[in-house]
Amino acid sequence: MRAYAEHTRSLLESSGSRDGALQAAVGSPTPEDYELMGRMERSILVHAGLRPEDVLLDIGCGSGRLAVHLAGWLEGPYLGTDVVQALLDQASKACNRPDWRFEKVSGLTVPTETESIDMACAFSVFTHLRHEESYLYMRDIYRALKPGARLVFSFLEFRVPDVWHVLEESVESLGKNAVLNQFMSIDAVEVFARHLGFQLLEVHHGDEAFIPLGDRSHGAGSDAELRSFGQSVAIYRKPPRRPFENTIRF
Ligand SMILES: C[S@@+](CC[C@H](N)C(=O)[O-])C[C@H]1O[C@@H](n2cnc3c(N)ncnc32)[C@H](O)[C@@H]1O
Repeated sequence: MRAYAEHTRSLLESSGSRDGALQAAVGSPTPEDYELMGRMERSILVHAGLRPEDVLLDIGCGSGRLAVHLAGWLEGPYLGTDVVQALLDQASKACNRPDWRFEKVSGLTVPTETESIDMACAFSVFTHLRHEESYLYMRDIYRALKPGARLVFSFLEFRVPDVWHVLEESVESLGKNAVLNQFMSIDAVEVFARHLGFQLLEVHHGDEAFIPLGDRSHGAGSDAELRSFGQSVAIYRKPPRRPFENTIRF
């Protein structure tokens, strides 16, 4: 977690452009990539069932790459969390939604009430945590989700050629104090879900074109162009409450 703050600070010091540094800090080398990734993240959430009235928790929201694309559409409450204050400040400024919360966190929990969230997302966040940390985080996310609510997250998968360069780069930076890049196999995604009580609804491998990006991306029209994300995407669901589960029996 500290590594991410240092990574952001060193980009801010070495870059001539503050906006550029805060885009690079979340992994986008160009403004075009930043824009495209944010649009794809929004489309993935809509694909996963996000509705305008939902309560959304964006874990590791960074500089608002996703949030800016939701600011004019999501009516419900939004909570973005991150470990780096400079990124949160940028996200808050870019969204211009005084009703939205951007909160700094320092651990592996989410600052929300139990069963208060309709959808949680973590794009390229578990990719920077150890498996044990992601598992703990997911346990708390499960607590925060309403029954039937979903967790959408992306992960680095060994079998996807587009992300292999990340592993090569990590090999090069071994021994240096670099940000951790953690790959995850599909069996971990399945086993984590089972142990935590989630249902695994969908997995999209990073090279699968499943994201509609046409004009109708909110409604995913049939003529929409489909894109792949690079990182793989999993959709978990907290099981819905069974009818009469909470009724008192005599
Ligand atoms: C690759 S960036 C992705 C940002 C954002 N989700 C997006 O897609 O634009 C990873 C983000 O996770 C944040 N992060 C790292 N560890 C975290 C933690 N324990 N809790 C919340 N955020 C964390 C980093 O500060 C960074 O902003």
